[in-house]
Amino acid sequence: MRVSWLVVLILFLSQLHDGKKTLQCLECGQSFRTNSHFNRHQMIHTGEWPYKCGECGKGFRDNSDLIRHLIVHTGERPYECGECGKGFSVSSHLIVHQRIHTGERPYECGECGKNFTLSSSLIRHQMIHTGEQPYECGECGKGFRKSSHLTRHQMIHTGERPYVCGECGKGFRDSTDLIMHQCIYTRESLTSRITVISRP
Ligand SMILES: *[C@@H]1O[C@H](CO)[C@@H](O)[C@H](O)[C@H]1NC(C)=O
Repeated sequence: MRVSWLVVLILFLSQLHDGKKTLQCLECGQSFRTNSHFNRHQMIHTGEWPYKCGECGKGFRDNSDLIRHLIVHTGERPYECGECGKGFSVSSHLIVHQRIHTGERPYECGECGKNFTLSSSLIRHQMIHTGEQPYECGECGKGFRKSSHLTRHQMIHTGERPYVCGECGKGFRDSTDLIMHQCIYTRESLTSRITVISRP
């Protein structure tokens, strides 16, 4: 069915283009001059990546992409950051890393104009505008469903540890972390402690 449509399309387009064949993708409208480019492009829509990695099963569009990927499994890190020396197995990971040093923030929020280093950070940030996570951390842009969650999170940035152990003075961000720590002194197992707490 698809093939016959393609034939019609090729004939139609070849007349339009003065005898020059053009293959148009029926899914997205992109045009291609050669069969191989057209076939390769089709894989985007069919999800068929014929070059499979024997280690992890991930599929790739062509052999060179697969070879580039194999380095992930050898543990080699040939892409080194000139700024701090950290190594990366994939060049794209190095490019993302280097934004730490350059301060580059290529992902802009269409809603408020705020810029982000990673696309994932932008996606997470956008939940602030959808109302899913309306409480935003001014420090890192992370959103939270509840203001109490934001308050607890902000201690990461301030270094605040309001739950202090009376025995040794060590501070904890979270009351449950303090309770777990105190089991050292009480010699109670955590499970027995939880039983005590939940008793009415
Ligand atoms: C975000 O980046 C855009 C484009 O580079 C720039 O015009 C804009 O001023 C930046 N916004 C902020 C808040 O820095």
